[in-house]
Amino acid sequence: MGPHGARAGVEVAPVSEQKPDRGSGGRGAEAKAKARPDFLRTKSVEQSIQDTEEPEHALTRSLSALDLTVFGVGVIIGTGIFVLTGAVAKEQAGPATALAFVVAGVVCALAALCYAEFASTVPVAGSAYTFSYASLGELPAWIIGWDLVLEFALGTAVVAVGWAGYIRSLMDNAGWHLPLALSGPDAAHGFAFDLLAFLLVLVLTAILVLGMKLSARVTSVVVAIKVTVVLLVIVAGSFFIKAENWSPFVPEPEGTVSGSGLTAPLIQLMFGYEPTTYGVQGIFAAAAVVFFAFIGFDIVATAAEETRVPQRDMPRGILGSLFICTVLYVAVSVVVTGMQKYTRLSVDAPLADAFKETGHPFYAGLISFGAAVGLTTVCMILLLGQTRVFFAMSRDGLLPRVFSKVHPEFATPYRSTILLGVIIAIVSGFTSISELASLVNIGTLFAFVVVALGVIILRRTRPDLHRAFRTPWVPVLPAVSVAASLWLMLNLPAETWLRFGVWMVIGFFVYFFYGRGHSRMNPQARR
Ligand code: ALA
Repeated sequence: MGPHGARAGVEVAPVSEQKPDRGSGGRGAEAKAKARPDFLRTKSVEQSIQDTEEPEHALTRSLSALDLTVFGVGVIIGTGIFVLTGAVAKEQAGPATALAFVVAGVVCALAALCYAEFASTVPVAGSAYTFSYASLGELPAWIIGWDLVLEFALGTAVVAVGWAGYIRSLMDNAGWHLPLALSGPDAAHGFAFDLLAFLLVLVLTAILVLGMKLSARVTSVVVAIKVTVVLLVIVAGSFFIKAENWSPFVPEPEGTVSGSGLTAPLIQLMFGYEPTTYGVQGIFAAAAVVFFAFIGFDIVATAAEETRVPQRDMPRGILGSLFICTVLYVAVSVVVTGMQKYTRLSVDAPLADAFKETGHPFYAGLISFGAAVGLTTVCMILLLGQTRVFFAMSRDGLLPRVFSKVHPEFATPYRSTILLGVIIAIVSGFTSISELASLVNIGTLFAFVVVALGVIILRRTRPDLHRAFRTPWVPVLPAVSVAASLWLMLNLPAETWLRFGVWMVIGFFVYFFYGRGHSRMNPQARR
């Protein structure tokens, strides 16, 4: 995959091409910024772009729209469709899981239209973090960056654990068994270390430190394998569909005992509903979970700084990869719930097991292999997105600046990559997928809310900026995007909201005790 593969200084577009118009709006915005409290100071778009040109802290521009689409599909299709589909169909939505994918896809499409405008206006590393620094102010930017670190770090861990499960399943087929104590908490149902997930994250960290050129070749092959396997599920599986499995398509709502209390969706608790699964509410609760399957299109935006013509290629890359994945997910869930009654779907490897159940173990083996291979890239790109946000925050001084030094030979932000890689490897060794996927989702949806608000605000504060891609129907579409993201967030369990709240409060303290004083936007902190 392209980002940070090339050496610094190669293929960097002339400065004039990268800079938006410097009209009087820039000075007006500066004057306005002076009147704001310091935690709402904004970093000008011009300053954001200039920072990327400091040679010590610069990444290189080498990606095209096609690279970005492959990059997007590479990270988007993963644990969501390969693993979560089974549990969601079985426990929350039945065959209507296909509708849950449509709901989640629509929420993402709305957010993507906002992301695309931001990415094409503020073409620098850091995604929603950078966008909000240029529009909403430093504290909101910090909050979103802190939140994205959580999203990508836990997302990497979730996918690593899912990958390890598929590898163990393949090893079991071959008659090799890892001791339970090294098979992770999900497999061992108690204290255990997931050795495979741990090793995967360490190896991927090393690849990222050495540079993406190596992984670009590997990733293209891996993405091809993954998409082939998904198409195999759709095409081969469609021959084994029994229409009666789709009946009822939307199962009748059922009260839940386990779904009561903090594990129930917040919205059900807020409005005093009896906690239920299935039915229409079940579709929305399912959408809030399978939303995980779409995470990644926003990461495409984090590579803006490494994109050749971000103003043109970024929206194409984001929307293209999102569209392809939505179509595939709907098709896969329709086929799988048609092959096997939803109540009998497996939770660990639902796509492969549906083929085993219908008496086609050969396909099942192929699918397991493809899933294991495919999850590798997802894991790597999430890890990459994670290091890029951390890199951007460090370059701005909100985190220690030592983490944004680029390696003299590999041109990669090696310090942040190594630090985060090791932490995530350890976390993934002790992580259970189910506990963390919802937390990743709430963090991502929160980022969508901030980005959509940022589009509206930046249109007002910086109407002068050149926007290669303009979100249609502003402010209506971003407002609908905010509402849709909030709606999905409310369909997540109350305990997820609590965990998310704790993480954000910690971030708040870190900002006030470190970032606020060390920010490069703080005149006293400039060295
Ligand atoms: N969308 C990615 C997955 O499903 C994160 O694994």
